[in-house]
Amino acid sequence: MRKALFVSVSLIFFLCFSGTAKAEIDAGKLFKTHCVPCHGEDGRGTDLGKGLGVPDLTNAEWQKTRPDTRFVEQILKGSEKMFAFKDKLKMEEVQALLAYVRNFAQR
Ligand code: HEC
Repeated sequence: MRKALFVSVSLIFFLCFSGTAKAEIDAGKLFKTHCVPCHGEDGRGTDLGKGLGVPDLTNAEWQKTRPDTRFVEQILKGSEKMFAFKDKLKMEEVQALLAYVRNFAQR
């Protein structure tokens, strides 16, 4: 009897845990939803983005000149031409996007 209880409690824990794992942040999807209209799927910038002056995010040399804090600030506060995302994204999502953007320079 006790054993059965233990098993079902473990099962509940397992189900809860796999539930949160599923809710993990999908940076690729976030980028697609919020950033691709200007930065493009490949990070090089769409025509619209280039018109606004987006940097080529795949440029590793340029990325080296930009600290993480600079990128995070840009995403949170935006600029004259880029929207601010501080009300749309959670901090963990911004961190995930930062990693995603960094990844462009390594492809
Ligand atoms: C409306 C178009 C637009 C959208 C949408 C947009 N950006 Fe930008 N982004 C820009 C422009 C334009 C720049 C160039 C710098 C500037 O003028 O602000 C830029 C610059 C950047 C930079 C470089 C900042 C630096 O160091 O100069 C990063 C990183 C960045 N964007 C990330 C993102 C991410 C991540 C998203 C999605 C959450 C996003 N952008 C959505 C237009 C956009």
